[in-house]
Amino acid sequence: LSQRLFKILVCRGPNCGDKRGSQAIYREFEAELCQRGVRACLEWQSCFGRCTQGPNVLVREISAQQAEMRRSLATPGLVGGRLTALYNGVTIARVGEIIEGHLVRGQIQRQLIEPLRSVASTPVDNAGTEGDSET
Ligand code: FES
Repeated sequence: LSQRLFKILVCRGPNCGDKRGSQAIYREFEAELCQRGVRACLEWQSCFGRCTQGPNVLVREISAQQAEMRRSLATPGLVGGRLTALYNGVTIARVGEIIEGHLVRGQIQRQLIEPLRSVASTPVDNAGTEGDSET
């Protein structure tokens, strides 16, 4: 099994979260990591600014030292170590693929990464964004 350590951030912003089932994706990561015995820090992220392409999940390699400094990693940005990827349109079925490919084999799963869309991918913060327009 890989000796690497990873941080996984699941977006729970209003668009990636309630609307696209990130709770279930988070739980699937929890279950799969436990079942496979893979070490990773699994946390929530409020928004990656890629809302239209969610649910988004950032996976990045971290050092053991960084793993202990979890607070300082609360805002990861999108640049990171060599094994960093923001996965888009993540489904429960893809969670195992991400864990096996990225975390266990150390290979970014490029087929699960969409190109950046240039049109409005509105960043959303956590502050009171419920009840937005459903047209
Ligand atoms: S709400 Fe998930 S990227 Fe913005």
